[in-house]
Amino acid sequence: MCGIIGYAGNKNAANVVISGLKRLEYRGYDSAGIAQVSATAGQPLLLVKAAGKVAELEGQLGKQLDNPTDQQASGLAIGHTRWATHGEPTTENAHPHLSQDGNFAIAHNGIIENYLTLRSKLTQKGYEFISETDSEVIAHLIQDVYEGDLQAAVMTTLGQLEGTYGLIVVSSLHPDTLIAARNGSPVVIGIGQGETLIASDISALISHTKRVVYLDDGDVVTVSKDSFDITSLKNVPVSRDATEIDWNVEEIEKGGFDHFMLKEIYEQPTALTNSLRGRLDLKGATAKLSGMQLGPSDLAHIDRITIAACGTSMYAGMVGKYLFEDFASIPTDVVQAAEFRDRNPIMQRDSMMLAISQSGETADTLAAVREGVRKGATILGLCNVVGSTIARETGRGVYLHAGPEISVASTKAFTCQVAVLAMMSVLLGRTHRMSAESANRVISELTRLPELAQAVIDQEDKIAKIAEKYAHIEHAFFIGRGYLFPAVMEGALKLKEISYVHAEGYHAAELKHGPIALLTKDIPVIVAVPESSGKAKTIANMQECRARKAPVLAIATAGDTDIHAHSDDIIEIPRCEEFVAPIPVVIAEQLFAYHMARLRGCEIDQPRNLAKSVTVE
Ligand code: F6R
Repeated sequence: MCGIIGYAGNKNAANVVISGLKRLEYRGYDSAGIAQVSATAGQPLLLVKAAGKVAELEGQLGKQLDNPTDQQASGLAIGHTRWATHGEPTTENAHPHLSQDGNFAIAHNGIIENYLTLRSKLTQKGYEFISETDSEVIAHLIQDVYEGDLQAAVMTTLGQLEGTYGLIVVSSLHPDTLIAARNGSPVVIGIGQGETLIASDISALISHTKRVVYLDDGDVVTVSKDSFDITSLKNVPVSRDATEIDWNVEEIEKGGFDHFMLKEIYEQPTALTNSLRGRLDLKGATAKLSGMQLGPSDLAHIDRITIAACGTSMYAGMVGKYLFEDFASIPTDVVQAAEFRDRNPIMQRDSMMLAISQSGETADTLAAVREGVRKGATILGLCNVVGSTIARETGRGVYLHAGPEISVASTKAFTCQVAVLAMMSVLLGRTHRMSAESANRVISELTRLPELAQAVIDQEDKIAKIAEKYAHIEHAFFIGRGYLFPAVMEGALKLKEISYVHAEGYHAAELKHGPIALLTKDIPVIVAVPESSGKAKTIANMQECRARKAPVLAIATAGDTDIHAHSDDIIEIPRCEEFVAPIPVVIAEQLFAYHMARLRGCEIDQPRNLAKSVTVE
């Protein structure tokens, strides 16, 4: 999704902004731009925009800066990566947008819902629009109401906007000032030594400072290189606490891997270790998740759980449903987060709502959280990004500690989400009907997770070889049952999003209710069939597939000879309990999807049309 960055300081602002935009590339975008303020008040803003990648923008900016007629640049600039919503990904539609007089530039994330009304009013006043975007109105509105005070003009403009924004504004008339505002789209301030940054995402700031302040909705901040002042929209001063980020720059670099996705697949043993660290209590036969802020008597009252999430996080949530029902005996629903609002679910007094989101910024999940708040539910967040909007709005929950996930395709977040959900199921289970003995059986298995993950990663070469055989396919099915059903949904999602192979995940029993009609020798079926209660039935489903000549790629327990006669290829995972099997199975699927995408020449870390955090509904 769109990314914004602003810089005020002594460094070359254009360079800082370009490197910040590169850090934001992972979010997914299709055009980029930068506006730099001249050191001399009243000199024109330098505006450079390009369709395509930041490298293209950088090249064009280089040419502009070589031009001797350009003004002396200041240490103040803003930049934007745009993920097209209103209007195609063209240079004209790229941000920043200028006001008609060229004095004001804005970079905007979010959607201005009343832009057509505002646009028509401004057009009647003689303003001419260059882009098809909803955002351009903001720049013209600022010009329209400006009377010498930039902050006042921005405030007045914000008062006219309906919709969401993470916004940064600069003006050629105020060469020392950046103004930013937040409503529904994240904005974070980075506090450096003699420099202040603004961004939509901490990865754009982290190479400059680890000290950050998150804005809340309704905050407006006026920034110079040495200070920042936050106020409400009514200009009342607001105080927000600064926090230290515990990620470091190495974590958001590729570290010798060809792609972030592969690096993040390889990080899973460590990520799982970090997720589990200090949270398993063998002596007390429980899990310690203090962020939940619910004592035993609160937990004991929970008699229904609703999980709201999207995409990969939703599939982790489906595993969570099985865990909560098996170990805590608590009926659990998993709802696609947008559907949570659309279908108006019932939250009862002792219902708990769990919002799962790696980024903590997914608009649909956030909307579900807000609806849950309105319904009076006890809400918990399960997020990876510390300080993210969902983490803050839920106020209680559990962090994954998986480390930054940069690749658009989610990998380590899924496995850590499942690990945390398993710990939650133990904690809840122990306040319901789970015995200490059963809890310790689960806990012991959870301590094996890093080793299970590593055992699959060690087979990368073998999986890459198998992918060579399937790299030409255009369609695939993934099937599994029980705990492996969500795992195959996730496997199909991974394959389709990065390799563009059309892939469908089904419960193994469902194939014969329709989809089997599609099977041919050219449509492989990837079957999750490790040792589990449903294995015999899944083998029967494999036979049904092979009878239709569909090649079968089994993901099975190492050394399980039952599978050989029913499959064309086998990826082995280590022997493990059924409830943790989604973790090694999904890692095998991640590696398969990765190598399929690599062999098909796809852009793995930034698949077409996709964004890392989907901040529009
Ligand atoms: C798939 C993927 C998406 C996300 C989904 C939710 O690889 O990354 O399906 O899982 O957009 O994102 P979060 O977890 O950030 O809410």
